[in-house]
Amino acid sequence: MSKQADSHDTIIILDFGSQYTQLIARRVRESNVYCEILPYNSAKDMVLARRPKGIILSGGPASVYDEDAPKLTYDILQEFQCPILGICYGLQVIAADLGGVVTPSTNREYGYARLRVTDKNSPLFMDLPSEMDVWMSHGDHVIKVPEGFHVTAQTADSLNAMEGLSGRIFGVQFHPEVAHTPFGKQILQNFLFKVCEAEADWSPQAIVGEQVTRIKALVGNEKVICGLSGGVDSTVAATLVHEAVGGQQTCIFVNTGLLKEAEFETTQSLFKQKMHLNVVGVDASGDFLSALKGVIDPEEKRKIIGRVFIEIFEREAGRLGGVKYLVQGTLYPDVIESISVRGPSAVIKSHHNVGGLPERMKLKLIEPLRELFKDEVRTIGRELGVPEDLLGRHPFPGPGFAVRILGEVTPDHLRLLRAADLIIEEELKLAHLYDSIWQAFPVLLPVSTVGVMGDYRTYERVLAIRAVTSVDGMTADWARLPHDVLGRISTRLISEVRGINRVVFDVSSKPPSTIEWE
Ligand code: XMP
Repeated sequence: MSKQADSHDTIIILDFGSQYTQLIARRVRESNVYCEILPYNSAKDMVLARRPKGIILSGGPASVYDEDAPKLTYDILQEFQCPILGICYGLQVIAADLGGVVTPSTNREYGYARLRVTDKNSPLFMDLPSEMDVWMSHGDHVIKVPEGFHVTAQTADSLNAMEGLSGRIFGVQFHPEVAHTPFGKQILQNFLFKVCEAEADWSPQAIVGEQVTRIKALVGNEKVICGLSGGVDSTVAATLVHEAVGGQQTCIFVNTGLLKEAEFETTQSLFKQKMHLNVVGVDASGDFLSALKGVIDPEEKRKIIGRVFIEIFEREAGRLGGVKYLVQGTLYPDVIESISVRGPSAVIKSHHNVGGLPERMKLKLIEPLRELFKDEVRTIGRELGVPEDLLGRHPFPGPGFAVRILGEVTPDHLRLLRAADLIIEEELKLAHLYDSIWQAFPVLLPVSTVGVMGDYRTYERVLAIRAVTSVDGMTADWARLPHDVLGRISTRLISEVRGINRVVFDVSSKPPSTIEWE
């Protein structure tokens, strides 16, 4: 069991595969209550071991009538004595399980609905208006509640919320976790505080103290290494471990030659001077570039970079000798991805990290951020005094510019992309847009077009600008950059970066596209 679950009132969210499951967790945590997401079919003992103060059954895309519909694998109503809240599919599972009637709809009901509270004494709707807007996204609906239950709210003429078994079991058809349900957070908080009587004793800041104590006890006098990338996650993880074991940790910062302009030098000095981290900088740009020579296939590029990275890391760790632990900046979405109801997601792109190293070197992992979301990591970073310009940085992939140069990675292509990247970043900062965008970067296309510069014909490369908004990088929309900003960026790119005579803007969202082009 995790340290968090051990020391705080815990809410368990059983995931039936809804796209909103992580949002439920966000809302619970924003209310300062610790929670964990577990797959709907988790073993009973695993759930019980967390001593939940309450359980939330998430929504899901299935119909309870589907042959392979996810169902509860044991009778939670008998096995658990804590309050339970079913949301959307979660409500239908409870209703179907206890003898209510669920009917399939011919089409999915999607969008706003007006909710009318019919039982003003229901703790779920306490201190709320008797009518409110709610967000719906469902196919089936419950037409008859199980015995011992009654309807607590309706939309038009159909049932939308129910309560039963002496105020212990609740269900809502709408989605309280989404921003489109304005009173949703209060409804969830009524469940947390009025029904479950959970204590609001969790905060990302509280994690700092807990993790420092835990890491100190775990590591003792042993040596620890950490791969620093200059990104938010590894920086905050290293800073947290530094708080715990100080000089016992050595951070290794590898220059892959695929980094942003001056990144290797400036970030290293920031780590050393402002954050007092013990950093070893390794310039391996030559190794990476020669291994990538002539390679065009995106997956091959990623695999080569991963392999060279491990070789260098292994060599440096070997030089230090006697290392027992490896620090990684794994975040909660990475953890959920691998355990969710959908199972480990198919590999779309091999991610570059120090995967493989722990087994090869028999290292034990320290992942102090594995229960946190990205913005919680930023909050902790602030608490630990990590400089703001580092915390606000756009994510940068491990394989760096190699996956933004379509085709072969050459020193000239890298020069071109570095210069373009700098211009885009500068202009977005000048326009005060940098912080509202998840990521913005140039992609060098393997396409040449004809242009005219001065009186001369040119035949040069096309550069694409990719800019997206996102909450966690798992889904993204293309950023609606103002035309004048795009115009300024394009003019500067073409006039200042030699080798480009055309700029295009990527207007695809994720899915179906991905953020990086390779
Ligand atoms: P995609 O392209 O999969 O990217 O939509 C989602 C987010 O992940 C980043 N990304 C990576 N980060 N190593 C990383 O550390 C990688 O190999 C990698 N590939 C993609 C990408 O920049 C975006 O923020």
